[in-house]
Amino acid sequence: MIKPKSVEEVIETARIEEVVQDFVNLKRRGVNMIGLCPFHAEKTPSFNVSPSKGFYKCFGCGKGGDAVDFLMELEQMDFVEAIRYLAKKYGIQIEETEVSQEVRQEQQQQESLFLVNEYAKQFYQDQLFDTDVGKSVGLSYFRERGFREEVVRKFGLGFAPDKNDAFTLKATHEGYNPELLKKLGLTTQYGRDFFRNRVMFAIHNLSGKVVGFGGRILAKDIKAPKYINTPETDIYTKSKVLYGAYFAKRGIRKEDECILVEGYTDVLSLHQAGIENVVASSGTSLTVDQIRLIKRYTENVKILYDGDLAGIKAALRGMGMVLEEGLNVRIVLLPEGEDPDSYLQRVGTEAFRDYITREAKDFIMFQAGLLQEEAAGDPIKKAKLIKEIVESIAKIPDPLKRSLYVRECARIMDVEEQLLVNEANKVVATQFKKGQQEKDRARLKEEAPQPDEIFVAPPPPAPGKQAATGDEFQEKDIIRILIAGGGEIFDEEEKTTVAQYIMGNIEDVLDNFDYPLYGRIAKDCHERLLANEPVNSDYFLSHADQQIRELAINMLSSPYEYSENWEKRWEIFLTSQSMPDENFAKDSTQALKRFKLRKLNKMIVQNAEKIKQLFEKKSDDYMIYLKLDQKLKVMRNELAEELGTVVL
Ligand code: CTP
Ligand code: MN
Repeated sequence: MIKPKSVEEVIETARIEEVVQDFVNLKRRGVNMIGLCPFHAEKTPSFNVSPSKGFYKCFGCGKGGDAVDFLMELEQMDFVEAIRYLAKKYGIQIEETEVSQEVRQEQQQQESLFLVNEYAKQFYQDQLFDTDVGKSVGLSYFRERGFREEVVRKFGLGFAPDKNDAFTLKATHEGYNPELLKKLGLTTQYGRDFFRNRVMFAIHNLSGKVVGFGGRILAKDIKAPKYINTPETDIYTKSKVLYGAYFAKRGIRKEDECILVEGYTDVLSLHQAGIENVVASSGTSLTVDQIRLIKRYTENVKILYDGDLAGIKAALRGMGMVLEEGLNVRIVLLPEGEDPDSYLQRVGTEAFRDYITREAKDFIMFQAGLLQEEAAGDPIKKAKLIKEIVESIAKIPDPLKRSLYVRECARIMDVEEQLLVNEANKVVATQFKKGQQEKDRARLKEEAPQPDEIFVAPPPPAPGKQAATGDEFQEKDIIRILIAGGGEIFDEEEKTTVAQYIMGNIEDVLDNFDYPLYGRIAKDCHERLLANEPVNSDYFLSHADQQIRELAINMLSSPYEYSENWEKRWEIFLTSQSMPDENFAKDSTQALKRFKLRKLNKMIVQNAEKIKQLFEKKSDDYMIYLKLDQKLKVMRNELAEELGTVVL
């Protein structure tokens, strides 16, 4: 670990204008400096650097920070990487804290593995560019496939000669430990080269270090596998790596989208064409680790599938995980028989870009469309498919997005919307219950916690932090139902409670409560349900937190009233103001609707901002958001209308 002293020294030494100037052309403007913002596309400079204050700020896109932030944002470094980068730039010797013998050994071991891989990459590259056979076989192969030299070099492509042990011999001769060569899968246990007579693709981790290789066979007919890859090693776990991620991370951030393809060559082709936000899953279906890796940079994924319907259907079934992680997935189906590389090379960059923009379909809609075709005229099959779609939708963490999907799918599949709503609600509540049980089991396995670990009283509310009026009431509504009816049964069949149903729908917005007390209660309920403890009136009435106790007493004793303010603000006029004391299932559905209405309004505002931005950027993508805007407004209006006519 770097010593804090060194971190301070680096931060104090780094001069913002010098750091920025390595990437951006700056001109003096008074005491400040100005240039074209590297974080968004612009023609007139709005990117300001203040040497005296030590920070940058873009008045176009709003990004700002100090030298470390700049590197983290632009180069997608983590904090430690940024500090090391700056130390190197300014020639500062970094001091590390003493680590245990064991840890140090492990670090050194890892470092030496990277070093050996770097050596191997260089070897294969030299073979490709500097040997006759490398040039005539390897390099000409890449050329024929249309890959330019700069891309070949950038991605560390190479050539492994058709010899038994050319690499192993040379490496050992130059002092590399044969055991390490084996450990890295570069040399077989019999001392032969693992990669022979193949063109080589170096695989980098997020910091650009070589973790492994893929080798493609050149002969067409041979029965040997087309690609062989580095086996699992201490530094290479296939399921955790996305090919090309190191070269794509900047582009992904910039475009706020990650394009996912299958093959190494697809990544190369797109990158070469200037589409740099592209990574490959290397022929397997996505893993949770890979999804989380993408999620560090964006929530939007566009998956390009080869045009083979059977394969796609199989792939779609494995997409639940991606939805659960909350990613927005769009699917592009390529014409039959093409993969991204071949199609791009055939039609050219511009037509390719057009195609993947035009043909991108929202994942759920895509699935609904496919299923609809499949089930045409077969009601039994259709019922089964509805279940399948609903399972997909229920996996989406955002309740609002879920509603949008339910609506669209009902339209595409030509079924009553209410039917889908009911089905989805059941699944959501059941999933939440299942999640609770799983977490509960995991918890049981751990050591028994001490009593005061189980119950941590919520912190006191921040002084003076009052929520804006208007937003408070929908939250209050939810809390009221949790307090008065949380323990009631929501669904007889699945044995889920009202509290479980509500939590299943608001789990992801627990941090977004505007009114601190209500947010605290919601989180408290969440914890409590996770611990498999009941959430009901008794619980709140004897709550350890006095504020919560008092609120419960108030809510349960005085008749519930809507604020006049609330009615005015949302233009919803309630015909009755008394609180229902039964039928909590129905009541909680209503409360959630009101909660959603509030979130919808916020989304509409955010979306409008996004439209404005994209429009100014002259990006056609604003059309997508324009469509979303229409949908959101339709939903909002309908919700408002529904709520307005409800007699409570
Ligand atoms: N793959 C693999 N082992 C194989 C076949 C494929 O690891 N035997 C992985 C590789 O990462 C490959 C990806 O799956 O890039 C996609 O495979 P495929 O579509 O067959 O290859 P392409 O990438 O299209 O390669 P090329 O264009 O050279 O045929
Ligand atoms: Mn291909």
